[in-house]
Amino acid sequence: TILILDFGSQFSHLIARRIRELGIYCELLACNVKISDVKFKPKGIILSGGPYSVYEEGSPHVDPAVWDLKVPVLGICYGLQEIAHTMGGKVQRCDKREYGKAEIDIVSPSRLFAGLSHPTVWMSHGDSLSAAPAGFTVVAKTSSSPFVAVENEEKKIYGIQFHPEVTHTPEGTMLIKNFVAGICGIKSGGWSMNSFIDTEIERIRTIVGPTAEVIGAVSGGVDSTVAAKLLNLAIGDRFHAIMVDNGVMRLRECEEASVELREKLGINLTVVDAADLFLGKLKGVTDPEKKRKIIGNTFIEIFEAEAAKLEADVEKKGRKIEFLLQGTLYPDVIESVSFKGPSATIKTHHNVGGLLANMKLKLIEPLRELFKDEVRALGELLKIDANLIWRHPFPGPGIAIRVLGEVTPEQVRIAREADYIYIEEIKKAGLYRKISQAYAALLPVKAVGVMGDHRTYEQVIALRAVETTDFMTADWFEFPYDVLKKISSRIINEVKGVNRCVYDISSKPPATIEWE
Ligand code: XMP
Repeated sequence: TILILDFGSQFSHLIARRIRELGIYCELLACNVKISDVKFKPKGIILSGGPYSVYEEGSPHVDPAVWDLKVPVLGICYGLQEIAHTMGGKVQRCDKREYGKAEIDIVSPSRLFAGLSHPTVWMSHGDSLSAAPAGFTVVAKTSSSPFVAVENEEKKIYGIQFHPEVTHTPEGTMLIKNFVAGICGIKSGGWSMNSFIDTEIERIRTIVGPTAEVIGAVSGGVDSTVAAKLLNLAIGDRFHAIMVDNGVMRLRECEEASVELREKLGINLTVVDAADLFLGKLKGVTDPEKKRKIIGNTFIEIFEAEAAKLEADVEKKGRKIEFLLQGTLYPDVIESVSFKGPSATIKTHHNVGGLLANMKLKLIEPLRELFKDEVRALGELLKIDANLIWRHPFPGPGIAIRVLGEVTPEQVRIAREADYIYIEEIKKAGLYRKISQAYAALLPVKAVGVMGDHRTYEQVIALRAVETTDFMTADWFEFPYDVLKKISSRIINEVKGVNRCVYDISSKPPATIEWE
């Protein structure tokens, strides 16, 4: 295992990504974690970049015990400065931040740079080294910076000013591989999804023990389905999945997901049809945040009631429900362990977050070490349907925040049918995986149209499609016109109550992905 100590750079998680892609396991922890608290013995350590200045008061530093481990250390950007600061080099503040591509000169042979031929790297720093620590060799420089890479081969300490983890450093992955595979001696390919499945099933069995039972909510999305399948493989019917039909899921979604989960994946699933209850509570409500709150709270209410019923059944067998399954992914974990602390942008959407407080259950999170694409790869190995694995994310409040204004059963029908056609055509055009998220929103306005000899006065559908990697920023998708034409004509012809279609050409920011 490689230990990444995170000083809060916006790229830290990419270091983890690159190492995992090499088939090597790594964990990212806060930079100031106590080494005695780390549960594994790292074979190498990477110090990430960060927004601080090493000499600044209050700037973060690693536990000195890091240096006693005597394992190879690679410092990136701030990590390099941390090395210099500890080992007696000098760091200076630059007048100007260096940001962007730079060409480096490799001036001395180095195991870290073995086989690299491309001199372009990505820089993003304010401070830089003005003197290397004693015993360190200069390996690379640029025209403006004489200490771009330094190393002490004997102590196996390496520092680089640039960021090998970003794709703008074309040979960055090779450099990282040189460190983790070459210098730290970890075989690449040892960490794979296949080995993950086996170890995770064992881990779940150990945590849950021979008799305890587990419940969890499933939505039909990839995360909850993969998590549920792992639980099912580990403990069979002692895992109880609950799917709540809130009446604002996509057309046929609930049925299709329950067939997949129950019949194909063999998961012990209860579907609660609560559509009328949700829609009843949403009657007359137009404020988006109120809709979210109503749906979130009602979900918790229903889930708890269903859990209580299950609990009663389980108790009859002399057993107990002790755990709640959650599909937390690694980015959420990183967000909460990062030195920066939980960021201000953490979603307010975690529907099941509120469950824990009331239910006195212990959490079980089988995906907490995985990135989204790893979850998808896992889903493929677990033979989960490709449509489900690649499904666009869907917000907890569902179509309720895509029907602008009041959510009535009729409005939900229109939005659902339009959305279904939209997605169907996107798939037919082979664009579904290119788009990160697409949906149809129903606008709360009426427009005049003409059909045959008649005037119509009907509603407007807004089509949204975005490309994004992190959902924090997004660009609208550039559809070929003929695809838009087909979508528009099908929706207007086939969905009763719609006579107009518009395409949303707003980026995020300043718009958001959802309309509400
Ligand atoms: P916005 O609209 O904030 O959306 O740009 C960013 C991502 O978050 C999803 N989203 C939600 N997910 N509950 C959820 O579970 C919510 O209340 C919610 N609001 C937005 C949205 O679909 C997009 O993927």
